[in-house]
Order: sequence, then C-alpha cells, then structure tokens
Amino acid sequence: MDINIAVLPGDGIGVEVIAAGMQVLQHVAKKKGHKVNATYADVGWAAIDKHGTALPAVTRDVCRQNKAILFGAVGLPDRDQTLPQAQRPERVALLELRKGLFANLRHVVLPPGLADHCPLKKHLISAGIDIMIIRELTGGLYYGKPQGISGEPGHRSAVDTMAYTEHEIRRILKVGFETARKRRRRLTSVDKANILATSQLWRESAVVMGKDYPDVQLEHMYVDNASMQLLRRPTEFDVIVTENTFGDILSDEASMLCGSIGLVPSACLGEDSSTTPFYEPIHGSAPDIAGKNKANPVGAILTVAMMLRYTFGLQEEAANIEKGCFQVLNEAKILTGDLGGNSGCTDVAAAVIAAI
Ligand code: IPM
Ligand code: MG
Repeated sequence: MDINIAVLPGDGIGVEVIAAGMQVLQHVAKKKGHKVNATYADVGWAAIDKHGTALPAVTRDVCRQNKAILFGAVGLPDRDQTLPQAQRPERVALLELRKGLFANLRHVVLPPGLADHCPLKKHLISAGIDIMIIRELTGGLYYGKPQGISGEPGHRSAVDTMAYTEHEIRRILKVGFETARKRRRRLTSVDKANILATSQLWRESAVVMGKDYPDVQLEHMYVDNASMQLLRRPTEFDVIVTENTFGDILSDEASMLCGSIGLVPSACLGEDSSTTPFYEPIHGSAPDIAGKNKANPVGAILTVAMMLRYTFGLQEEAANIEKGCFQVLNEAKILTGDLGGNSGCTDVAAAVIAAI
C-alpha cells in the first residue's frame, strides 16, 4: 500500500520526535511491503521564519494532497509573546489544520513496567490503566460567538460562548459509543448538566443514543467529579466522551496517569475525507530540551500507530508498533529523562525498532 502523508515536524522537540516516528514507520513499512511517500512541509516558527506565516499556502496544499498529516508541535513561548494572539502558531496553524476534524482521540495507557512513574499509589492502579478520551474538537468555547474583549480600559468586559448543536453532540457521542463497543464496552459521558444548557442537551442526547447501544454500559459524570474520579479510580474508565474544553483539561490530567505526557498520542478525525486527518503527540514543543536528544519519542511513535490504524486501516502494523513501544517501556531500561532515564530520543527509537 502507498502511505501518502504530509509530515509537519514544526518547532522545538517536534523535529526530533517526528524523525523518530518516521524511522519506525519506515521500518514497519519495509517489513510489510508498504511504500511511504512523505512530503515534508514547514509549520509554526519554522514557517514564519521562511514564509512569514505559521501556515503557508504551500503547507496547506501539501496537507490537502495527502491522506494524513503527521504533526510534531508548534509554538515557542518566548517568540509567541512577540505576536498578537491571532497570529500565534497555535491559532494560525494548529487550530486551522484541525478545522473540520471534530473527533479528537487521546489514548492514555500506563505500561505496567512504568507503575512507579504514575503518581498514584500502587493499589489504585494495579488493575491497569487504558483510557481512550474522545474530545469534541470543533465546537464549544473555542469557536462560539460572541467572543472577544470590548469596552474602555478599566471597564472592559470579555465573553466566550459555549455553543453546541444537537448534530455536533450526536456525531461525537456516536464516536464514543462505537469506540466503547470495540473496547471494554464502558462509556463515561462527561458534562456539567447541573448548570450548563449545552450539557443538558448533551446528556439528553447521550441517554437517547444509549438506547441504541444496549451492549455499552453508559455512565454520566459531571466534569468536576470526573477530574476527581480519574485520580480515585482510574482503572475503571474505558472510554470518556466530552466537549472541547472539558476534554482539553481532562486529557492533560489523565496523561499524568501514565507517568509522562510524552507518552500520549492523538488523532483528529473528521466526518469524511474532505478534511485531511491530523495526528500529533499531545505534548508541546518543549523548547527547554529541544535539540538535545532528550525528548521522549514514544508519543510520536504511538501517533504513527494511530495513523496507520485509523487512516490506512493497517491494524496489524499499528499493533506491532504499540507492542514494540510497550515492550521497551516495560523493560524500563531505555528511557528518556521524563521517565527518570538518561537515554536519548534516538536510543528509544532504535530500541522500539529492535523490538518490532
Ligand atoms: C491541546 C492544546 C491546544 C488545545 C491549544 C494549544 C490550542 O492545549 O492540543 O490540547 O487547547 O486544543
Ligand atoms: Mg491541551
């Protein structure tokens, strides 16, 4: 099979971790007789310096012409501050490339060998942590209108609007139910239905849709309670489905359950093939360790696995990559600094390749 992808390493450690992910991809493709056609393009500060904008037209074209986007990270806090909000890479590149991709899947797994790196006590995690967080990505506070700051200095006011249509709610809930069906058949729908109108519509829709999925155990949870239960009984979660902002916050919290945000991959998927699916490790650009071969590439490597699974339908290849990563992590010999080791990004990539 031809694996045609746009590769956008971006800023900071994005460059190193995507290089590692690509090595693993090439290795697996070669083994299974696939051909990787990767077109690299600039994004973030790498693009601003060359083209004057974080998302140049040529990068957009490359993304449009390929089957998937493999993305590293964008943004460099020191330099971001020199630009108005609206021109910063996170807005111009990240949010733009994710447009139309409403389903954000973030997979949090604690490899048993890393139990010591989970901040929770052993007895709370011994049953294993494997949570798929499904975050709605194109609605809610990020995009609702009105939005903005107005008025005279000293008397200004600001507004953000959380808005959802039933259509938006139902299509993400459906991803939740379908995903749960393929896993342990438990779905936690997270809302704030005791207060928010959007959440009341959300919960009502979840209850109705639940009738079509009698095989999936559906529970509803308020977001504040969910943030607590993630620490109290993390092993009982299977699939979580929630709106944009709640999912943003809960997924960062959950990422710590596996010891490092550097281990968590993600996929952003749309309704059809009109928008190129977007794959990125959830960590950021980490400029403090960039270029030092210190970054953890596992999040990026697992992101490649998600890409093979969801866009190219290559289940076996994806599973092999995941198995290789978890073998290396469980042996806990070759680990980067975020997990208390002193191996390099390139060492971890080489170990994963050897394990596949
Ligand atoms: C994330 C990030 C982004 C988001 C920011 C950088 C816009 O926090 O990917 O979770 O909120 O989606
Ligand atoms: Mg976030």
